[in-house]
Amino acid sequence: ARTVERRADGVLTVGGVGVDRLADTHGTPAYILDESDFRARCRAWRQAFGDDADVFYAGKAFLSRAVVRWLREEGLNLDVCSGGELATALAAGMPASAIAFHGNNKSAAEIRRAVEAGVGRIVVDSYEEIDRVAAAARELGVRQPVLVRVTVGVEAHTHEFIATAHEDQKFGLALAGGTALEGIRRVLAAEDGLELLGVHSHIGSQIFDLAGFEVSARRVVQLMGTVRDEFGVTLPEIDLGGGLGIAYTAGDDPLEPADIAKTLRDIVERECAAAGLAVPRLSVEPGRAIIGPSAFTLYEVGTVKPLEGLRTYVSVDGGMSDNIRTALYDAEYSVALVSRTSEALPMLVRVVGKHCESGDIVVRDAYLPADLAPGDLIAVAATGAYCRSMASNYNHVLRPPVVAVTEGEDRVIVRRETEEDLLRLDVG
Ligand code: LLP
Repeated sequence: ARTVERRADGVLTVGGVGVDRLADTHGTPAYILDESDFRARCRAWRQAFGDDADVFYAGKAFLSRAVVRWLREEGLNLDVCSGGELATALAAGMPASAIAFHGNNKSAAEIRRAVEAGVGRIVVDSYEEIDRVAAAARELGVRQPVLVRVTVGVEAHTHEFIATAHEDQKFGLALAGGTALEGIRRVLAAEDGLELLGVHSHIGSQIFDLAGFEVSARRVVQLMGTVRDEFGVTLPEIDLGGGLGIAYTAGDDPLEPADIAKTLRDIVERECAAAGLAVPRLSVEPGRAIIGPSAFTLYEVGTVKPLEGLRTYVSVDGGMSDNIRTALYDAEYSVALVSRTSEALPMLVRVVGKHCESGDIVVRDAYLPADLAPGDLIAVAATGAYCRSMASNYNHVLRPPVVAVTEGEDRVIVRRETEEDLLRLDVG
């Protein structure tokens, strides 16, 4: 579905629009989001999981009102993890019933707002939260559907900061030691305010191997068996979270939604058969796998500094404020010259930003043509997820816009920040 091509003059086009025009119209840096590609990916996930499962797009990867509308049109649900994401979702018309609310420390106000809005499920993460959600629901005279987030004890093979199912971290209720089972008991005991839908597990992010999901699914289904045996309750839903990896560089080999769906379904069915349980409704929460590959960041080269015997430092007009992932997770990216083609030999470069620190690296090691020069446009691929959503104003650099392109049209969906925006918050 990707609509990226080279025009005869060597300029890269996306959705039929040249990056030269995009840079002229919107300036750089800018996140360029291919709407058709995004929608195609939504459809692929939807079709792979079918009508008896739900796909919740994880809004933390990137959320805007346009994205919410596209999700809705493509039949996806939405996972939010803060009051701000919830507000964006509701403002864009996402039905509350299609929203799941996550987080390990939701505030009382956030919980109340979610219950009041009628969100389809709150994923409860601690004993305190079970009490808080129950109290809010009672006060509002409703029964709030919830999932209990369980930490299954899987070591996901990914960066430590984005692995979430090993026991020594902040999320969820541990399977080990009966903590999760006790959480479930508490939810059931609060049945006047809470309706227990099922169990949730998220093992981490940027994962290429389904083995961790298999272990997680097995343990969650076993827990559901225990719940049936101990409390006589059959839970109707199981949510296996998100975390499917995407290709950032040539070595990465992402899984296809159809294969993911088949593997998850098979394992859940097999484990349920073994436990004598009816097969629950399955849901998943991909974020990165849907939006990540659909966008790239367009930068203009500002300075080119060759360091004899080392490498050439290429400075662009953004940096760690629009993409913190390299500095934070040692993430790897691919970069290309996109405003022209070049016959020059490749040179080893480090693409760096304009911030006042040396860790401000966008692409640690890459090859770009040796005739690269100020004014050239370069694109860093697969920046749709966790780049704009993790962007900052460090050094009072203004956050770039998100420009959606499709069928020859480009449209700003999140505008560039301005100095007035910065000063508006500074009321002193
Ligand atoms: N569901 C839950 C409960 C999550 O915590 C997450 C991500 C997802 C779904 C979506 O995961 P995805 O499919 O996008 O991998 N900032 C990091 C990623 C943090 C992910 C946090 N939770 C990064 O830039 O790699």
